[in-house]
Amino acid sequence: MPLCLVANWKLNGSKEFNSQWALEFLSNFKGNNFSSLGIAPASLYIDHLKSVFADYDVMIGCQNIDFQETGARTGEISASMIKDLGCEFSIIGHSERRILFHETNQMICQKLIQADRNSLVPILCVGESIEENQNNTTFKVLKHQIIEALEGADELSSLVIAYEPVWAIGSGKTPNPDEINSVHEMIKDVVQSHFPKIGLKSVLYGGSVNFTNASSLFEQQNIDGALIGGASLDGKEFALIANVFNELRV
Ligand code: 13P
Repeated sequence: MPLCLVANWKLNGSKEFNSQWALEFLSNFKGNNFSSLGIAPASLYIDHLKSVFADYDVMIGCQNIDFQETGARTGEISASMIKDLGCEFSIIGHSERRILFHETNQMICQKLIQADRNSLVPILCVGESIEENQNNTTFKVLKHQIIEALEGADELSSLVIAYEPVWAIGSGKTPNPDEINSVHEMIKDVVQSHFPKIGLKSVLYGGSVNFTNASSLFEQQNIDGALIGGASLDGKEFALIANVFNELRV
């Protein structure tokens, strides 16, 4: 099973948090499909989290990688370093990185290539702003983001795309599940028609996913899973969301 539910812990966590989270998660998760679950802690805690989950094949990944392999780039972390720690995936091009750290589609393309070279599954994030949504340009914006990011990376051996409307992140608002479904269908069509050599594994939805709205999302055929921020910080809630996913999809 590809990655279906991914926790993005953003700038949160500690060693104590890792251990406590694992206890809460493991005492509430009813499934055994650990390898479809991913956690992206702050990179500094990857090693510790790996040891906490040593007995389970939960995927551990990172939230960002540099677009270069080595060099005079103080503070950066490369895909090969992340792979060296035993990670399986990297989130790439999250809207917070695009907005706060000025990442362009061209940089994101280089990061996708770095991930692929190092056998990390890239989770490419795309999403429209509230203005773009209100102007009915969502499809156009997403298509542009996808084509620019994948143009130089058209032979990626695997790829996950996360549709995360910028206005839905951390806001408690989400598009209607059937709107998300049609966006996901469009994303799959764009990748298939423009980049037939790319192995697109799944299209996840991200933005205010929680236990309450999980079933309405996972009922949709083209929503293959979720990338979860706030609600993923609670090990119990992440487990309950995973249980809903398992009931509906596994
Ligand atoms: P929230 O789930 O907090 O809205 O965050 C979504 C997100 O940004 C996941 O990458």
